[in-house]
Amino acid sequence: MTEPVLDVHLTPEDAARALRLEAREGLTARPKWLSPKWFYDAVGSELFERITRLPEYYPTRAEREILVARAGEIAELTAARALVELGSGSSEKTRLLLDALRPSLREFVPLDVSSSALTAAASDIMADYPGLRVHGVVGDFTEHLGLLPGTSPRLVAFLGGTIGNLLPEEREKFLASVRDVLHEGEWLLLGTDLVKDPATLVRAYDDAAGVTARFNRNVLRVLNRELAADFDPDAFSHVALWNAEQEWIEMRLRAERPVRVRVAALDLEVGFERGEELRTEVSAKFRREGVERELAAAGFEPVRWWTDRGARFALTLARV
Ligand code: AVJ
Repeated sequence: MTEPVLDVHLTPEDAARALRLEAREGLTARPKWLSPKWFYDAVGSELFERITRLPEYYPTRAEREILVARAGEIAELTAARALVELGSGSSEKTRLLLDALRPSLREFVPLDVSSSALTAAASDIMADYPGLRVHGVVGDFTEHLGLLPGTSPRLVAFLGGTIGNLLPEEREKFLASVRDVLHEGEWLLLGTDLVKDPATLVRAYDDAAGVTARFNRNVLRVLNRELAADFDPDAFSHVALWNAEQEWIEMRLRAERPVRVRVAALDLEVGFERGEELRTEVSAKFRREGVERELAAAGFEPVRWWTDRGARFALTLARV
C-alpha cells in the first residue's frame, strides 16, 4: 500500500522544546497552569477516546448527530475539492464528511501534532477511499496554518469543540490565521459546545466512572516521563468546575497534601500548598451570537448554524 504524504512542521524536538517552555512558565505562575495539549500522549489519547463514549460526555454524540443530518448539505453548499481537518485525532467523524463530499473531493489534509496518530489515521483513510490523495501535516493548529496544502475550494473542519481549549485572545488570533490562509470562496466548518445548565456541563467533565479524572492526572505522568519530573499523581484530585462569568469549564488538579516536585529537565523545584490547584484545561462553551460575532470579526461570513435536536452542540459553516 502507498504511504500518505506527510509534511512535518513540528518535529519531536520542537514539541519537546515547547513543553519545556510552557511547563516552566505554567508551573512557576500563580495560579499554576498547563496547556491541555499535553494530555494527548498515547495513554491520554486512548483515555480521551473512552471519554467520548461515556454516558455523561454528550459532545461527541451530539456533533455526530449534526453531521449525520447535515453532511449532504455541507457537500452541496461547499462542493469542496479538499477537506482539511485540524486536530484530526482519530478522524472517525471525518468519514461522514468524506462520504458526503465524495463527488467533489480530491484530497484529504489531516493536521495533527502527533505524527503517529496522523500516519495511522491517514493510512486507514487511504485504504478505505481509493483515489483520494491524503496529504498529512504534522503541526500545531495555532502555529502551522501557514502553508496548508490542497486544491481550492478547501473546507477546513475544526470539530469536537476543540476551539474551546483556546483562551479568548488565542481564539481571535487562531480564527484570523485560518481566515488568512483561505481564499475567497473557501470554507470553515466549526464545532462548538453550547452553554447549558451547569450540572450537565460539570457531569460531562467529572464522570461517575472516573475516566476524566484519570485523563486529567495523566498529564502529570506525561511531565514525569518527558521532563524527568517526580509528580505523585495520587497526591492530586480531579476538579471540574463551571466558570459562569467566562462561560467555560475548567479542569484543575488539586494537591491534597503539601507537595514538592522536582522537574529535573528544567532544573526546577515546584511546591504546592495543601489545596493548591493547577489549571490543566479550559473548555469554553458558546452561544450563537458569540460564535457569529467572533467569526465575523475574523473576516468570515457565517452561512449556516446547525444544532443537534437537544441544542447541546452546534456546527457553523462559514465562508470567506
Ligand atoms: C477534545 C478539547 C473537545 O474540551 O471537551 C474532554 C477535551 N477534556 N474531557 C473537551 C476534554 C475533558 C475535549 N476537547
